[in-house]
Amino acid sequence: MDEPLEDLADRFSQIADQYDDVHSSEEKPIYNACASLGIELADPRPDDVVLDLGTGTGLIALALAEDAGHVVGRDISDGMVEQARSKAADSGLENVEFGYGEFRDPHYDGDVDIVVSNFALHHLPDEQKREAIEAIAELTPHRFVLGDAMFFGSPDPEEPLFDHGVDGATVGMLVDTLTDVGFVVTAVERVHDQVGILVAERRDEEPVYESEEDQ
Ligand SMILES: C[S@@+](CC[C@H](N)C(=O)[O-])C[C@H]1O[C@@H](n2cnc3c(N)ncnc32)[C@H](O)[C@@H]1O
Repeated sequence: MDEPLEDLADRFSQIADQYDDVHSSEEKPIYNACASLGIELADPRPDDVVLDLGTGTGLIALALAEDAGHVVGRDISDGMVEQARSKAADSGLENVEFGYGEFRDPHYDGDVDIVVSNFALHHLPDEQKREAIEAIAELTPHRFVLGDAMFFGSPDPEEPLFDHGVDGATVGMLVDTLTDVGFVVTAVERVHDQVGILVAERRDEEPVYESEEDQ
């Protein structure tokens, strides 16, 4: 799947005002389970800055703003950002901001302690998912919590969970990429055969073992 970013952003802007009604319904138990677990695993401290990439209408960002020091939500869709801003105003939370930003260029240059992303990375083809994870590592968060479509086994074309708009990676590819850019994957939570959450923590020490190629 390689939909131009502008078309994808427009598609989300067109459904932005109905997005919460559809996604908070009981018809989306997998999405809701993934969102709740992601919020729990992000576990920000009161002085942490959290960056939520593909924030949409701000479900995760607003929940984390209850506990974090500051939360920054970024998305490519103006319509989704508008919804998130209106919810932030209604909530009275003053430590959360929303604006345009892309996975590989989040338009934020402050310090970031925790990066979260829920059901958004799958919109990128695998090569761009790698680039996005590299860009996240460059922000040097101590934790990255990724909830998304991800295959725990081989993708079964006869039984797709999502009919369109999803380019789920395998858990192996995501774990390899996170490890390559310097994270240690500390939790792999399976929500469904095709949906999960990965928790990656920053690895600061050099590995004890060196492969022959490194020597
Ligand atoms: C299915 S929604 C999920 C929104 C929110 N995270 C949630 O859990 O409700 C996916 C969101 O990702 C955004 N998105 C897609 N590609 C993106 C990209 N390359 N960079 C930033 N956001 C992106 C879309 O605009 C949309 O708002």
